[in-house]
Amino acid sequence: MVVPLSGSLSFLLLVTTATTTTFATGIRHGSIIQKPSSGVPTFREAPKFRNGDVCSSNASERIHIAITLDANYLRGTMAVVLSVLKHSTCPENMEFHFLWGKYDPDVLRSINTTFPYLNFRVYRFDTNRVRGKISRSIRQALDQPLNYARIYLANILPPDVKRVLYLDSDLVVVDDIMKLWEVDLQGKVLAAPEYCHANFTQYFTDLFWLDKELSGTFKGRHPCYFNTGVMVVDVDKWRQGGYTDKVEDWMAMQKQKRIYTLGSLPPFLLVLAGNIKAVHHRWNQHGLGGDNIEGKCRDLHPGPISLLHWSGKGKPWLRLDSRKPCAVDHLWAPYDLYGSPVHSLEE
Ligand SMILES: *[C@@H]1O[C@H](CO)[C@@H](O)[C@H](O)[C@H]1NC(C)=O
Ligand SMILES: *[C@@H]1O[C@H](CO)[C@@H](O)[C@H](O)[C@H]1NC(C)=O
Ligand SMILES: *[C@@H]1O[C@H](CO)[C@@H](O)[C@H](O)[C@H]1NC(C)=O
Repeated sequence: MVVPLSGSLSFLLLVTTATTTTFATGIRHGSIIQKPSSGVPTFREAPKFRNGDVCSSNASERIHIAITLDANYLRGTMAVVLSVLKHSTCPENMEFHFLWGKYDPDVLRSINTTFPYLNFRVYRFDTNRVRGKISRSIRQALDQPLNYARIYLANILPPDVKRVLYLDSDLVVVDDIMKLWEVDLQGKVLAAPEYCHANFTQYFTDLFWLDKELSGTFKGRHPCYFNTGVMVVDVDKWRQGGYTDKVEDWMAMQKQKRIYTLGSLPPFLLVLAGNIKAVHHRWNQHGLGGDNIEGKCRDLHPGPISLLHWSGKGKPWLRLDSRKPCAVDHLWAPYDLYGSPVHSLEE
């Protein structure tokens, strides 16, 4: 059940618990009071991006992009949206699905004013669903419940969404996202770049590897690391295969025995590593935030790049603000909408 609001943008507010019960709460038109924003930064309005001639006008051929909406990462989320639209041949065919932990009218207004032409829907991710299942990782930011929302996409998104592209908030796309979106999944539930040269052993503890029953889960598979910050997911197949439960089962296991040290990544690897559709590495040049502890500067890997991802501790907006940016952070800066337009007039 969905309550559409009027306006030029297709805007729906769905309050969705991450269970099978979905209920909607419409926000009454005009109930969002114009008041000085409470801690939500100000952003410049993005231009309107128009479809090219080749684009489909069939509404059921939309490109669905899911991304989390966290007041702390809002600047990053805005940059993701801008970068996607800017490089897209069919920007008007994009539909964004924002997942947030708690309803925040200031954040909603901020999106609306920054991207007045955006097709988007907003969903509440019930963080209670994971709160008891998260075990502490090596970096506190990885333990935020919203980080786990990607596991519940199939439960949260409405049935008309058959495929979704999940994106983290600390990346920018520098190519037409349609090329990634159209990937032939070849029967797999998920597509992402795969890294078979990475040392897979390190993602799990000795306790895991020494336990024949636990590590036996990888038997008959050739598991490789993949990053969960950029994933194309067949939502129908995910539902049918009960993948949410499978991932949750491993999180429950982690509560009993410490089988890994990172946050939401290892349970994904446990269920899907070695069983995904691999796409070109250009779609996730990750690790630009440095490691999880210090976040030191890192260079780009050689080869073509379609997506830059500041995974790791360092975030480009923080490093740019601190006036100690890394070289790669200057690649993020052109997508930064932070700041008020009045500022430039006054200069
Ligand atoms: C969003 O903006 C449109 C106009 O661009 C307006 O009609 C609508 O009421 C706004 N909605 C919210 C929730 O601010
Ligand atoms: C729109 O696209 C859907 C899915 O590809 C297709 O089933 C439908 O026939 C199309 N509708 C029109 C009017 O072309
Ligand atoms: C892979 O990582 C494990 C655990 O960190 C380590 O013991 C092992 O030596 C590494 N293997 C290689 C080939 O680097």
